[in-house]
Amino acid sequence: MAVLIDGKAVSMQIKDELKQKAAELKAKGINVTLAVIQVGDNPASCVYVRNKKKGCEYIGIGSLSYELPEETTQMELLDLIQELNGRQDVNGILVQLPLPSHIDEDTVIKAIDPSKDVDGFHPQSVGALCIGQPGFVSCTPAGIIQLLKRSHIDIAGKECVVLGRSNIVGKPMSLLLLRENATVTIAHSRTKNLKEVTKRADILVAAVGKPRMITRDYVKKGAVVIDVGINRDENNKLCGDVDFDDVEPVCSAITPVPGGVGPMTIAMLLHNCIESVSLKD
Ligand code: GUN
Repeated sequence: MAVLIDGKAVSMQIKDELKQKAAELKAKGINVTLAVIQVGDNPASCVYVRNKKKGCEYIGIGSLSYELPEETTQMELLDLIQELNGRQDVNGILVQLPLPSHIDEDTVIKAIDPSKDVDGFHPQSVGALCIGQPGFVSCTPAGIIQLLKRSHIDIAGKECVVLGRSNIVGKPMSLLLLRENATVTIAHSRTKNLKEVTKRADILVAAVGKPRMITRDYVKKGAVVIDVGINRDENNKLCGDVDFDDVEPVCSAITPVPGGVGPMTIAMLLHNCIESVSLKD
C-alpha cells in the first residue's frame, strides 16, 4: 500500500508556523498585508480568492480585497496595480488568473512590483529562480517541494519527470527539482513514447489538466506520484490528472485529490507574504 501524502496536514503545519512568524513581526510593529484583485466572477476564482483571504485571516495578516467588474479596462487594472505598488502598507499583490480576454495577462503580471510579486509570476521572479537568486517562487511548485521534504522523500539524484510545461507549474517545478539536485525531464503533449519517459521517474509530477489520464502503465513500480490536477470528471466529481485507484497499488507514495497539492498552494502564498518583509529593499 502506498503512503498517502497528506497535503492538508502539511499545509496546516506550515500555516501554524507562519501564524507564529506573523505574531513575531507584529510584536516588532510590522504588519503584513496582501492585496487580492479579482476581475469578473469566474466561480472557481471566487472560491480560490475566498480561501486566500481566509488563509490571511488564519495566520493573522491583513488582506485587502478588490473585486472588479468584468468590464474593467486593462488601464484601470494597471492604475490600481500602480497605486498598490506605491503603498507602503501593502506587501503583496495578487491578481487572480484567468483575466477576462480583453486584458493581457503578461502585461498585468509585468506591472506588479517584483518585490510584491507573491505569486512569483513576474519575469524577474522567474529569472531569479532560474539562476538561483532570491525572489518569490510560484506557490504550487514550491508547495510540492515542501510536501516532498516534509514527507521525508529524498529528491537529490532522483529521476524526476514533470508532465506539463506551464509557466505556473511545469517550468518552475522543473527548476525547483533541479535546484534540489534531481535529474529532471519535462514531458508534454508532443513528447514521443510518453509512457516510456514517465516510467523512468522515481518522482512523477503530473500537471496536464486531463482527468485521470495517468494510469499505472505510466508509472514505475515504487515511484512517488504527485498529482497537481484539479479536474471535474464526466459526473462532475473532483478528480486529479492521476487515476488514483489504478496507480495507488503500484506506487510507494501518492497525493490524493482533493487534499494533496491543492492546500499547499495557499500555504506557500502565505509563506511568500511573510517572506515579502525580508525581500523588501
Ligand atoms: N489561478 C489559478 N492558480 C492561480 C494562482 O496560483 N495565482 C493566481 N494569481 N491565479 C491563479
